Amino acid sequence: MTESSDFAQMSEAEARAELARLAKQLAQANQAYHAKDAPEISDAQYDALKQRNAAIEAAFPTLKRPDSPSDQVGAAPSEGFGKIAHAVPMLSLGNAFDDADVTEFDARIRKYLGLSAHDVLEYTAEPKIDGLSLSLRYEKGRLIHAATRGDGATGENVTENARTIQEIPETISDAPDVLEVRGEVYMSHADFEALNDRQAAAGEKTFANPRNAAAGSLRQLDAGVTRGRPLRFFAYAWGEVSAPLAQTQMDAIRRLEAFGFTINALTELCDGPEALVAHYRQIEEKRATLGYDIDGVVYKVNRLELQARLGFRATTPRWAVAHKFPAELAWTRLEAIDIQVGRTGALSPVARLSPVTVGGVVVSNATLHNEDYIQGRDSKGEMIRGGKDIRVGDWVQVYRAGDVIPKVADVDLSKRPDGTVAYRFPTICPECGSDAIREEGDAVRRCTGGLICPAQAMEKLKHFVSRKAFDIDGLGAKQIEVFYDDPDLPIRTPVDIFTLEKRDAANLNKLRNRHGWGAQSADKLFAAIEAKREIPLARLIFGLGIRHIGEVAAKDLALHFGSWEALITAVDMARPAALAHRAGDEAVKAERLAATDEGRRARIKDTRDKAISAMDVPKDAQAAWEDLIGIDGIGATVGLSLSDALANEHERAAINALVQELEIVAPAAPAKQSPVAGKTVVFTGTLEKMTRAEAKARAEALGAKVSGSVSGKTDILVAGPGAGSKAKKAADLGVETIDEDAWLALIEGL
Ligand code: IVH
Repeated sequence: MTESSDFAQMSEAEARAELARLAKQLAQANQAYHAKDAPEISDAQYDALKQRNAAIEAAFPTLKRPDSPSDQVGAAPSEGFGKIAHAVPMLSLGNAFDDADVTEFDARIRKYLGLSAHDVLEYTAEPKIDGLSLSLRYEKGRLIHAATRGDGATGENVTENARTIQEIPETISDAPDVLEVRGEVYMSHADFEALNDRQAAAGEKTFANPRNAAAGSLRQLDAGVTRGRPLRFFAYAWGEVSAPLAQTQMDAIRRLEAFGFTINALTELCDGPEALVAHYRQIEEKRATLGYDIDGVVYKVNRLELQARLGFRATTPRWAVAHKFPAELAWTRLEAIDIQVGRTGALSPVARLSPVTVGGVVVSNATLHNEDYIQGRDSKGEMIRGGKDIRVGDWVQVYRAGDVIPKVADVDLSKRPDGTVAYRFPTICPECGSDAIREEGDAVRRCTGGLICPAQAMEKLKHFVSRKAFDIDGLGAKQIEVFYDDPDLPIRTPVDIFTLEKRDAANLNKLRNRHGWGAQSADKLFAAIEAKREIPLARLIFGLGIRHIGEVAAKDLALHFGSWEALITAVDMARPAALAHRAGDEAVKAERLAATDEGRRARIKDTRDKAISAMDVPKDAQAAWEDLIGIDGIGATVGLSLSDALANEHERAAINALVQELEIVAPAAPAKQSPVAGKTVVFTGTLEKMTRAEAKARAEALGAKVSGSVSGKTDILVAGPGAGSKAKKAADLGVETIDEDAWLALIEGL
């Protein structure tokens, strides 16, 4: 390669110009390679440019540019895709694993709708395609955007990429003005093999399976790359529609077909669980010859009016289920057992395996759940696997069901090598050395180090920046690992993220000037952080990573309290009652262990009451506690966990510091202004148009609180024929009483 002396003849002006040209060319190559996943020059050409640049710099050291390619590795984090909020959320499906689950699915629906075993109830059954779901929005017959599922509420804008897929029409005719078509993007086996051959021949990365290939191809920043990838699309559902497509699922799907979409030819109408299972078996038999991956069969209630009545649970429809194919299995050697420490301190044993292919994917790690599982016992202390324990060196069975983490299921004792020893689960945290204790009734051993445990602190941070929490562009789990131990700008707790820019400025811009970073990448990161300084309350609560507080509980708390101040004031006030509740629990635990005779129940209640009253809880504390655990979906476990987290000195200090840096956005009132939102409703007597379960679920979905008894707090009593004492009490209390039809009229169209 060229020596620096070759450039000594160059004039300074020429060298300066050449360095500028090289910087630009290399930046472009970097961008193409890293951010777009679409290299424009070969590796050898790239290396040659870099060496030329280095040689000129060696000859003219004073001309080295501040953004010299020699100081950069990779490219700035990619801009990523724009976001699209789904007009109707994209949900997932509940699962059925065997025939009994299918019978139960049908029985559940009949019960909910109040149908007898003789009433006709039809379902569609169709393959569950193993790809990734996509929502296509058409307005006046034109494709206007395409979005991935994302977190269900917001997806990535992949419109340009979707337009390159042949099976996605650009225009459709005779369709409603607004129509969102939903379905699965996938890649056929043949196309997948051919793509991998091409990739390998070009020295590019190959994909593990067709699903990954489809996802990797659709999520390309450069639609030109997607165009070269053979993606396909099955339509099977819809989101927002300005006019109903049909009266049944089957007819709606046929309309999608008439618009020009491909629907799956194995979709069939079935009249009950036996027919569903029969169709499942047929599809299972054909599975290997279909030419594309499927992982089960989806059943949907056929009549759309029944689908509407059945509605949704938190994340899944009541009217559909995915009957999954059995998990795939393989046997391999257990090389080691490592302990991972999670966000809440849980010590999780991870099996390190000799790599083995399970259903097309190479698996080298799998979960071993917890210490009882390794020893051959379940959470109740009963034997599993016939009581066989699992040891390092064992020959173990690994299985994978759908997307979930592979599990170690079984062990072959006949292949156990000599000299193995039973696994001893650590009782101190391998990360920080604190005691790892197991509370009674808990299957999990936990590190007691809290935020002083680096593993917990790091996992908490990763959770904090995760997609459903603060979702900071360019600051994901990997970057957290790097920043955690950064010599200049460590990120150890969430507030450190929001002081990063200030600290860098105070620290002579070390990050902005850092080798491999440069001002541009640093400024981009600072801007991404800045953008999340304003954060919805629910995301903040979820982001704190408090045990038992998932996305749904965080939303419930945010809606109930409306502001951060209201939340902490209430939780602080409730603290004495929370502690009394725990004391009650503990007293009961002790009593349960001791008591075996008849008077037990009464004694246990008595024990609880005594323990609580011994704590002499102030009235306002008790009221705040009851309000907290009275929130639908919260309860004492969540309440205690929240209370403990906010009462923990370290944790509270970290949270307070964080909150200082944020602008917390109050939750918006529920989207649809329902006339029953916030009202307490009681149903009594016989309901003729719906079951109690349906009435309750619909009222709750509209923001009402459904109670079983009439009191001064009741807003509406819905009384059917045969209503008795509740109607009388409502009349006495002056509670508004309406019949079922009036109730339906009230909530109609909502
Ligand atoms: S229906 C409201 N039908 O499975 C329910 N989903 O596990 C809408 N999937 O996110 C989904 N094939 O990506 C439906 N024939 C099919 C499907 C299917 C594959 C995927 C879809 C969904 C996931 C849920």
